[in-house]
Amino acid sequence: MADDARVICASSALQDGGKGVRFRMRDAGGEAPAFAVRFRGQVYAYINRCAHVPVELDWTDGDFFDYSKLYLICATHGAMYLPESGLCVQGPCPGKRLQSVPIEERDGQIFFLKEPHHV
Ligand code: FES
Repeated sequence: MADDARVICASSALQDGGKGVRFRMRDAGGEAPAFAVRFRGQVYAYINRCAHVPVELDWTDGDFFDYSKLYLICATHGAMYLPESGLCVQGPCPGKRLQSVPIEERDGQIFFLKEPHHV
């Protein structure tokens, strides 16, 4: 684990197909919103920015999955993304991707490998 890793949340805060945890991070363009979700046991994190129009995905804070719990969905125009890769498979921007964020789960916690803080 990198020395500058930071805890986002406890592992128990991310249920499979459940609510995501939002956090903020710095990317090349400055501070950016991001989120983590759990899908089929694995934790994934992405910049919270739709590949269609650069808006946040969640309808209400932390609601990223569609009703089937199989896709991440953008609340604005309904783009559907694979949780495990961020690839858009349906909606206005098929073939585009969410930007993934380096994340690690260990010792019952979820770590971001740079500098997040909660929102
Ligand atoms: S802004 Fe996300 S689908 Fe259009």
